[in-house]
Amino acid sequence: MERNIIVLLSLLLCLLLSCHVSAVGATAKRRHSSPLSRPHRVITAETAPATTVPAMVQYETRYHTQRLDHFNAAPASYRTFPQRYLVNGTYWGGKTAPVFVYAGNEGNIELFTNNTGFMWELAPRFRAMLVFIEHRYYGRSVPFGSEEAAFRNTSTAGYLTTTQAVADFATLVQSLKANLSAPTAPVVVFGGSYGGMLAAWMRMKYPHVVIGAVASSAPILSFYGMADPYAFYDIISNDFKSESKNCHDVLMNSWKELDKALSNDAGRAQLNSTFKMCRGSTVEAIPDLLDTAIVYSAMTDYPTESGFLTPLPAYPVKEMCRAIDNPKSGKDTFSRIKDALGVYYNYTGNAHCLGDATEHDPYGMFDGWDFQACTEMILMSYGVRNGSVLPPEPFNFTGLLDGCRASTGLPPRPYWIATEFGGFDIANVLKRSASNIIFFNGLRDPWSSGGVLKDISRSIVALVEPKGSHHVDLRFSSKDDPDWLKQVREKETRIIGHWLNQYYKDEAIKS
Ligand SMILES: *[C@@H]1O[C@H](CO)[C@@H](O)[C@H](O)[C@H]1NC(C)=O
Ligand SMILES: *[C@@H]1O[C@H](CO)[C@@H](O)[C@H](O)[C@H]1NC(C)=O
Ligand SMILES: *[C@@H]1O[C@H](CO)[C@@H](O)[C@H](O)[C@H]1NC(C)=O
Ligand SMILES: *[C@@H]1O[C@H](CO)[C@@H](O)[C@H](O)[C@H]1NC(C)=O
Ligand SMILES: *[C@@H]1O[C@H](CO)[C@@H](O)[C@H](O)[C@H]1NC(C)=O
Ligand SMILES: *[C@@H]1O[C@H](CO)[C@@H](O)[C@H](O)[C@H]1NC(C)=O
Ligand SMILES: *[C@@H]1O[C@H](CO)[C@@H](O)[C@H](O)[C@H]1NC(C)=O
Ligand SMILES: *[C@@H]1O[C@H](CO)[C@@H](O)[C@H](O)[C@H]1NC(C)=O
Repeated sequence: MERNIIVLLSLLLCLLLSCHVSAVGATAKRRHSSPLSRPHRVITAETAPATTVPAMVQYETRYHTQRLDHFNAAPASYRTFPQRYLVNGTYWGGKTAPVFVYAGNEGNIELFTNNTGFMWELAPRFRAMLVFIEHRYYGRSVPFGSEEAAFRNTSTAGYLTTTQAVADFATLVQSLKANLSAPTAPVVVFGGSYGGMLAAWMRMKYPHVVIGAVASSAPILSFYGMADPYAFYDIISNDFKSESKNCHDVLMNSWKELDKALSNDAGRAQLNSTFKMCRGSTVEAIPDLLDTAIVYSAMTDYPTESGFLTPLPAYPVKEMCRAIDNPKSGKDTFSRIKDALGVYYNYTGNAHCLGDATEHDPYGMFDGWDFQACTEMILMSYGVRNGSVLPPEPFNFTGLLDGCRASTGLPPRPYWIATEFGGFDIANVLKRSASNIIFFNGLRDPWSSGGVLKDISRSIVALVEPKGSHHVDLRFSSKDDPDWLKQVREKETRIIGHWLNQYYKDEAIKS
């Protein structure tokens, strides 16, 4: 009980101070994983993981004057902010040719632009214009003049909602089409993770603005009462188990050893001599670093080398397990952990030390997502079962909401998304009310626990890939891609082509 209070307090303190290091050991961790990724820290020695961006990614940066509040006529609603969007019109076939829009998620839009190779590769084929829209309150699209002002208090942060964000996308698209004098150009919306949720919701709410949505790894069912709150971490545990039972067990048992070592001077000294911590960081950070490495390597367990959040080898879960099962540094638990951390934090071999705090939020995700994850986007990713690869943590919904209330100063609205966008009885509801949505999910991705995994109708289809990870379909193709991945992309391409043909036929437009 005592410990729970300390854990909760440190969690709140961490939320307030944006700190990402647990103060009381391995079990006191923040669990506000954003769908995409909620790195406690993204630590790399490289300051520019963008080195892996293909030369194909070239765009023009534009700003649209966006309205602060779409749903209110009170004077403050008429305030505006510059909303950034990135455009590549090189392949556009003109007036009736398609516009492919990416629904920006919780971070700098360039990150998603650079990692959504699928759209870049489709553009020439469909003679499409590419438009990547940044989500309000992230990157450069921040109201009230600065990030600091935007998050000063609830009067300013309060305009950060999903409903506003989807309305931003709709108004921006309409304005863009008007400016292009292309009122009939069909728009297809794409998104991955939280962006995938927004893409699906945009098709449901604004079917007259977008003709279809590619919603990749979109956990639209990850809300209270819809999803099993333990399923997220069950999937992560199973990912590790599927590589090696020993690896899973070493990790599972390491938390107690870490906690024990952290509780006394001799133990801390032992950790300090095993792990090369950065200046300004301490061995207390190790549990969080390990937690992050486990969660994000499972999420981004891509079949090829990647540099999405940090440079990683192909199949990083397999590589972490290889490091644990055949350690180079020594056979004790900490040496094995050190080698496993090396896979996640030191793939390039350039990391001089562990826990570099200078790069803790390179993509500007934390302020916004901490707020969203505690107001509306209360996703079911908090419970950890006994026997998991991570330390057990009973799911406590009341406790979660209490913590959120204290951190944002607002009453959380955990049921609002289900009211605004639906989710319960989704198959019957969408079968009658919606069309043209692709839901892709990879079952190795913990977020598939909140995904749509079954076809809903002929035009609302679930592409489910047992070996797939977090929005892997949206990534640039590679010659090393496995066949299943090539087939997923081919299927998606065929479906998009079908939506476009259908649209041109309906509108009697010669394409
Ligand atoms: C659009 O992308 C293509 C290659 O992907 C590039 O050749 C072209 O210069 C880009 N256009 C703009 C306006 O950036
Ligand atoms: C369309 O043009 C108007 C007038 O120049 C401008 O205010 C608006 O931002 C433009 N729309 C977009 C999406 O850029
Ligand atoms: C995205 O790619 C562009 C062009 O290669 C690069 O300038 C930019 O730094 C990259 N940004 C991110 C966040 O990856
Ligand atoms: C937020 O800050 C502004 C500017 O300092 C102030 O006018 C407003 O009353 C504050 N709102 C709340 C809810 O504290
Ligand atoms: C940890 O180890 C480093 C050398 O790797 C040493 O410089 C530092 O003083 C040690 N810190 C503690 C608290 O023992
Ligand atoms: C990262 O890898 C390189 C090359 O193997 C090694 O020299 C270095 O010590 C590693 N960094 C850390 C923090 O372990
Ligand atoms: C794990 O097991 C203990 C003892 O049986 C129990 O008290 C605890 O609630 C369990 N934790 C979870 C997350 O199920
Ligand atoms: C859930 O958390 C609250 C704190 O908000 C606490 O009072 C309650 O005892 C916890 N419930 C369980 C079952 O641990």
